[in-house]
Amino acid sequence: MQYLLTSGLLFGLASAAVIKKDGYGHKNFNVQVGPRPYYLVNDMDEGPLKEKMKKCSEGPFKVSDFVFAHRGAPLQFPEHTLESYNAARRQGAGVIECDVAFTKDKQLVCRHAQCDLHTTTNILNRTDLAHKCTAPFTPASNGTPAKALCCTSDITEAEFKSLCGKMDGFNPNATTVKEYMDGTPNFRTDLYSTCGTVMAHNEYIALVDSWGLKFTPELKTPEVKMPFNGYTQQQYAQDLINAYKKAGIHPSRVFPQSFLPDDIFYWIDHEPKFGKQAVYLDERVDTLEGYANATASIPALAKRGVKIMAPAFFALTKVDAKGKIVPSEYAIAVGKAGMEIVGWSFERSGWLNKGGDYYYQYVSSVINNDGDMYTVLDVLAQKVKIRAMFSDWPATVTYYASCFNL
Ligand SMILES: *[C@@H]1O[C@H](CO)[C@@H](O)[C@H](O)[C@H]1NC(C)=O
Ligand SMILES: *[C@@H]1O[C@H](CO)[C@@H](O)[C@H](O)[C@H]1NC(C)=O
Ligand SMILES: *[C@@H]1O[C@H](CO)[C@@H](O)[C@H](O)[C@H]1NC(C)=O
Repeated sequence: MQYLLTSGLLFGLASAAVIKKDGYGHKNFNVQVGPRPYYLVNDMDEGPLKEKMKKCSEGPFKVSDFVFAHRGAPLQFPEHTLESYNAARRQGAGVIECDVAFTKDKQLVCRHAQCDLHTTTNILNRTDLAHKCTAPFTPASNGTPAKALCCTSDITEAEFKSLCGKMDGFNPNATTVKEYMDGTPNFRTDLYSTCGTVMAHNEYIALVDSWGLKFTPELKTPEVKMPFNGYTQQQYAQDLINAYKKAGIHPSRVFPQSFLPDDIFYWIDHEPKFGKQAVYLDERVDTLEGYANATASIPALAKRGVKIMAPAFFALTKVDAKGKIVPSEYAIAVGKAGMEIVGWSFERSGWLNKGGDYYYQYVSSVINNDGDMYTVLDVLAQKVKIRAMFSDWPATVTYYASCFNL
């Protein structure tokens, strides 16, 4: 507890309060995976993997760095809130993500996108703040969907901190703000959407540090023109790293991510201790031509110092002529270049009985039930040999990781 208090004081009273709020204070922290992994294992096709998974049912379940908490645990908790991070920690995630965006006063906060406040917070229902949005709420009319656009850069950090986190979603047919905010996809839930505690980046650092876990901050691609009131992309990338240096966090505990190769190169060149673990989020794989180009570019990226590649996990496997899920050309190229792989993101797809969504597009022909997600994870872990998997419900991956001692 002494330790918690000290790290809280470093960041001032606000973060001390945040840490206290989760202060169960027990020395023997128990990972809890809850019922979902058991539901999924029951749903698996019969075979050796299912048998092995069943044998692991009584744990013990351990914290694992194989498990990256994607936005916390947003399958059920409002993303990037204290409640979501608490749930992720309880489920055994060894690494917790904060997507980093900047505010009007150039402070860093945790939000999945710079401009998602209208779908992830209650800002539209806040008469004192809604008018500051880039585009305030416009109701749906004559077939034109409702819209709004509210960015972290529209408001100050203090204003941001006064918002409530909600489940990400909106109703395009809404004619009122209340209807617009009521758009949670029906495989998620609003049960915990009761004013989630939004987090500044520094608060997230103090929190995750107090748990002794690791960090994966993502420098979100700005949605305003840079430089923003004199704030450059390089300063933004540097500020992210500075926050860890100031908090005395060892670089080996930090996996900074970006979709922009220039951010990755910036860290490799200017902050090599952090750059060594930079994660290149590769969305070039989204088109067939981009996938081919991305695969061809791997050796050059390795030469440039990139050590961890992270495409959406569909790009890491494919179905062979015998109907087996096997590593993709991209995955093989990354392995050959001596780089590591982090996949994203598990548990964003809802039900898999119709072959899954975007994340299962290369294996949809052999996917027809929810339990099949463990078949895919097993190929990723054992054949592709990924270092880690992001998940919207860390418990699902923790169960597998503990079972296979990852
Ligand atoms: C919006 O309206 C369209 C057309 O009536 C309908 O197909 C769609 O399901 C509605 N969406 C929601 C989220 O209510
Ligand atoms: C919006 O704010 C009003 C007044 O504070 C409150 O009664 C209502 O529940 C809020 N609606 C939503 C969807 O948060
Ligand atoms: C792929 O690479 C070719 C050759 O460099 C380039 O012309 C093309 O624009 C690239 N396509 C994509 C989608 O990146």
